[in-house]
Amino acid sequence: MELMQTPVTVVILAAGLGTRMKSRQAKVLHRAGGKTLVEHVVGTALAVAPAERIFVVVGNQADQVRQALAAYGVGFIEQADQRGTGHAVIVGRGQLAGLGGFLMVLYGDSPLLRAETLQKLIAAQASSSGAATLLTAEMTDPTGYGRVIRDIRGRVAQIVEQKVATPEQLAIREANMGIYCFRADLFWNHVDELAPNNPAQELYLTDMAAILTNAGYKVKALRIDDAREALGINDRVELAEVDRLLRDRKLRELMLSGVTIEKPETVTIDADVRIGIDTIIEPFARILGRTTIGENCRIGACSIVRNSELADAVEINPFTFVTDSRLESGVQAGPFARLRPGNHVEAGAHIGNFVELKKTRLGAGSKANHLSYLGDSDIGPRCNIGAGTITCNYDGVAKYPTTIGEGAFVGSNSTLVAPLEIGAGSYIGAGSVVTKPVPPDALAVGRAHQVVKDEWAKKRRERYKK
Ligand code: UD1
Ligand code: MG
Repeated sequence: MELMQTPVTVVILAAGLGTRMKSRQAKVLHRAGGKTLVEHVVGTALAVAPAERIFVVVGNQADQVRQALAAYGVGFIEQADQRGTGHAVIVGRGQLAGLGGFLMVLYGDSPLLRAETLQKLIAAQASSSGAATLLTAEMTDPTGYGRVIRDIRGRVAQIVEQKVATPEQLAIREANMGIYCFRADLFWNHVDELAPNNPAQELYLTDMAAILTNAGYKVKALRIDDAREALGINDRVELAEVDRLLRDRKLRELMLSGVTIEKPETVTIDADVRIGIDTIIEPFARILGRTTIGENCRIGACSIVRNSELADAVEINPFTFVTDSRLESGVQAGPFARLRPGNHVEAGAHIGNFVELKKTRLGAGSKANHLSYLGDSDIGPRCNIGAGTITCNYDGVAKYPTTIGEGAFVGSNSTLVAPLEIGAGSYIGAGSVVTKPVPPDALAVGRAHQVVKDEWAKKRRERYKK
């Protein structure tokens, strides 16, 4: 058990372009389950090693990969030209060789890998006297994967890549997952024996199995039960498949933790989303990015909520779009509402159909129930914003704010020309164009006077009869 404390260094290979993706974007930057592939792998690695002991090998679009991982605090290794998975580790020698213990290597294109599996792999290596343990899986169709050749005692003799395997070797269904736990000292003692003996002229990390075996050390394989966890993404068909599996996994997790999801096969929820108990998610909802949702909420059918914070008992009615906004408890929005970035909707406020908000505070209990645009506005509590109210926040050059004080009543179809201040408790007559400040408790009417001409219509009809 003491061996369990052996420090683990993790290297994640993420330098390849991923030719089979047919993309201008490096493979590990493609997204599945709402995150880049490499973020999934880094997230899993953090369960077995601290960030200071995790290194990502970058090459293709290195800057973008570094950026995608900036928040994780992990280290980076540059692999300027990609000469194979073995070469990728060798270029990190300067940073890695001094760190003893176990050297774990993961591939950045295998996002389904689970933390428990890595823990099992480390435990297996810790209780072995051998030089390495690697993960394998029995696959129905192992095409494209390295095949695991075992000796008569069941140890790993060799890993043979698809391209160079004989027909007998291709018939083997035990595939290499590309996840290894090496004894770091033995790895660095022997890694220079890797040679580019393959059609691609690359240094294959997989050859370490035969090298260590031939040097007289044991290499063991830990076979995992669920071969799907091994899925590496090499093309867009596999990307879609992995995306579906990651999303199923997330939905299951949420349902088991107390969230109701209606018709889950239609719902999309990103990996980092958090949702409280007894919240109900209706069909075709999409909950994305860093969204957190409280308890007892309802996310209506076909709504999209992205990077937003919803407190308890928030109701998002169908066909509503909410992004980068904060909604306090009891808020109701939609159907057909649009909340663009930067809103703070306070407790119990209502946002109705065809209402658009941008960079707006809507105070507690305030209502904007129909057909409005409220942008760059600060609206106090208990205001009524009548149907069709528009804040004219843009003059073609710059944006201007609108402030509406507590309890103000803005009549329907008001045009509020910013910059503008409307005092607390004031009243704006329907159809007004308001260009000047309105003091608290005042009435402002800014529209043409109504003209009434008795009998005018009747006389007109008579004139045309002749
Ligand atoms: C690799 C394994 C194969 C295994 C499979 C599991 C080798 C030679 N083969 O094949 O046995 O069954 O993964 O998914 O290792 N990379 C670099 N630098 C390089 C080359 C690759 O960082 O020079 C990175 C890639 O970005 C990728 C990972 O290593 O994230 C794996 O490379 P990939 O080309 O996908 O290897 P496979 O052909 O899938
Ligand atoms: Mg691969």
